[in-house]
Amino acid sequence: MSIAKPLPHDAAVLHVTGQARYVDDVPVPAGCLHLAFGLSDIASGRIVSVNLEAVRASPGVRKVLTAPDLPFANDVSPSAHDEPLLAINRVHYVGQPLFLVVADSHLQARLAARLAQVEIDADQPLLTLDEALAADSRFEDGPRVYGRGDVKDAMCSAPCRLQGQIRIGGQEHFYLEGQAALAVPGEGGDMHVHSSTQHPTEIQHKVADALGQPMHAVRVETRRMGGGFGGKESQGNALAVACAVAAHLMNKPCKMRYDRDDDMIITGKRHDFRIDYDVGFHVDGRIIALDVQQFTRCGWAQDLSLPVADRAMLHADNAYFLPAVRIESHRLKTNTQSATAFRGFGGPQGMLGMERIIDHVAAHLKLDPLRVRERNYYQKEGGLSAPRLQEPQLPPEDVSDPERETRNTTPYGQVVQDFILHDLTNKLVAAADYSDRREAIEAWNSENELLKKGIAFSPVKFGISFTLTHLNQAGALVHVYQDGSIHLNHGGTEMGQGLFQKVAQVAASRFGVGLDSVRITPTDTAKVPNTSATAASSGSDLNGMAVKLACDDIRCRMACHLALLHQCRPDEVRFRDGHVETPGKIYTFAEAAQSAYMGRVSLSATGFYKTPDISWDRIKGKGRPFFYFAYGAAITEVVIDTLTGENRILRADILHDAGASLNPALDRGQIEGGYVQGAGWLTMEELVWDDAGRLKTHAPSTYKIPACSDRPEIFNVTLWDGENKADTIYKSKAVGEPPLMLGMSAFFAISDACAACGANYPDLQAPATPEQIMAAIGRARG
Ligand code: MTE
Ligand code: MOS
Repeated sequence: MSIAKPLPHDAAVLHVTGQARYVDDVPVPAGCLHLAFGLSDIASGRIVSVNLEAVRASPGVRKVLTAPDLPFANDVSPSAHDEPLLAINRVHYVGQPLFLVVADSHLQARLAARLAQVEIDADQPLLTLDEALAADSRFEDGPRVYGRGDVKDAMCSAPCRLQGQIRIGGQEHFYLEGQAALAVPGEGGDMHVHSSTQHPTEIQHKVADALGQPMHAVRVETRRMGGGFGGKESQGNALAVACAVAAHLMNKPCKMRYDRDDDMIITGKRHDFRIDYDVGFHVDGRIIALDVQQFTRCGWAQDLSLPVADRAMLHADNAYFLPAVRIESHRLKTNTQSATAFRGFGGPQGMLGMERIIDHVAAHLKLDPLRVRERNYYQKEGGLSAPRLQEPQLPPEDVSDPERETRNTTPYGQVVQDFILHDLTNKLVAAADYSDRREAIEAWNSENELLKKGIAFSPVKFGISFTLTHLNQAGALVHVYQDGSIHLNHGGTEMGQGLFQKVAQVAASRFGVGLDSVRITPTDTAKVPNTSATAASSGSDLNGMAVKLACDDIRCRMACHLALLHQCRPDEVRFRDGHVETPGKIYTFAEAAQSAYMGRVSLSATGFYKTPDISWDRIKGKGRPFFYFAYGAAITEVVIDTLTGENRILRADILHDAGASLNPALDRGQIEGGYVQGAGWLTMEELVWDDAGRLKTHAPSTYKIPACSDRPEIFNVTLWDGENKADTIYKSKAVGEPPLMLGMSAFFAISDACAACGANYPDLQAPATPEQIMAAIGRARG
């Protein structure tokens, strides 16, 4: 069986030798034209005139298009039809595409795009969250509210109470491969599009609308992305549609790739948040009532902001039972890039709010935050046996407390049935030697004036499934050829996460053959239709199951054929070690395939899977949106320099739950990468806009992502040894997004180090840049 083997990424060798083909590497047919957008340099205003004479006269330019030149739909929105490909009448942010240049070369297109004379009657833009809030500029009529219980009442009964606020910055995806598309026109209006997208079906849909064609005229192919991280769920639409429209009008292949600066200026990023909280709690740190307000900056168009904000609300509890809770979410509209999906899809922001609350409560009570976290955990699955670490001075817990019975229901009504964080925490805390190290750090800090160390534990509970229930479906197409080789296709896309390898391992295991018999093929809307985006970490859950079903269908037909030949029962036919065994004869897999072919048995099948047992009412905020939860926890130790505000991660210990891992090597890669990306978000990556709404951090020279040298010096990553309780593919768990949130422990370790500088709560804001760390030290000192 190839399941559970730590095999390398299927394209690892191609990646490191430069042979892997990304969209920009696909050989283009002769006469290919290249595109570039002309961008708005005003954040908000009415377009008075656009003079394109100089652009048209520029060398190599073949055509220049503005909104009225588009033959059909001018719409690249994934949701609300509020996002034109090219601006109509008004501009809404600095970087919005105004016109499209079609030229002989990439460089010629880009040079020409700068020559336009654009007159815009500018008005006052709404740039920040607070400006949008003051102007009541928002998506949806008012805030969305989820919750349960009488929060006011519960709050009044609480012996302790705190209020606070945290601001959480956004994040640039910084996929190594920028956005790119290539459209090749065919006969009779057909269009073949290569796109660096997590969502080929949506590209197909948007291109079809833009060409005034049914979807059957458009075929979208995606071999791989050089990283997506959510930034290619919807942000590839504009390039693909531009290429297809230009290819249609010119009857020539057209290609577009964003230069890095353009990519950062044009495309959406992670939503930044402000979270205000009011919390009532017991003297032992257990939360009694919580009132949270989440304010999120969505940018100028709706894009995926509503489900992102919903997921932030659904993760406002993280791992903790909240007896009475009110979660209010404000989706604010601003004149900035339209914020979009980013690993965690709002979950990280919601969770960080909760973790800040726990950290603040612990500081207020002068308790170890780890203890406060454990005391608030959901109840252990199976009842009242949750191990509660008691501190001797506290009164024993009231076991007759009726509330205890229900301490595993989320604010949205889903019962947490698989809560493993009690055991996982105990294991990690012991393995990482948390208590002794905490003491050692305190001693070290008392002897060091300028440098201060900090340590923090943080847990993750992340809901798995698309909250838009209908998206939880997937298809696969599998062929077995007469020589026993297997052609594998499914609706998922590969962005470096290792999905294709995991799914190939499923196929190889079903047929009992080696992985070299299985050919992984590019995602193609002509092979598997109506797919969902590869997102919500559900790629292997959904496509793995669809592939399994397709393989089992063919295997069943082969077994029936051989059973008839050998007068045995089909279940006596075994597929293993590259062979097909019947009581009478052992075939190689190739011989069995040949025999089935000769017997006129179909060796091709589709598979279709939909996640069972989920339902969700996003208006009421009630239901069972998630099939199951993925868990993990991290302990991070940092050191800060109190003179410069710099920080360094010294050590990280992670225990993460990937269920029965399909591939422990790839899962470990996801965990390490996720942690580093999450820590980067909260400790160094900072987006800065100026007063005119121009993004100042639009290149690697000004936007700092973690480098190899920022990886923790000691980095212990362990997979939790347990199966998924839910019936998933080989009992594995989704692992794509959850580990990003382990990076929260780095943020709280920095906060802990700041706290060592004085007596007050440092109130650290995210990202913890040197400026923020200096400010937090100042607050701690008072
Ligand atoms: N890992 C790599 N190397 N590159 C990526 O772009 N995207 C992440 C995660 N891990 C990403 C990644 C995001 S946002 C998601 S939703 C999942 O992978 C998607 O893939 P999966 O569903 O197969 O886990
Ligand atoms: Mo991931 S943010 O769901 O693409």
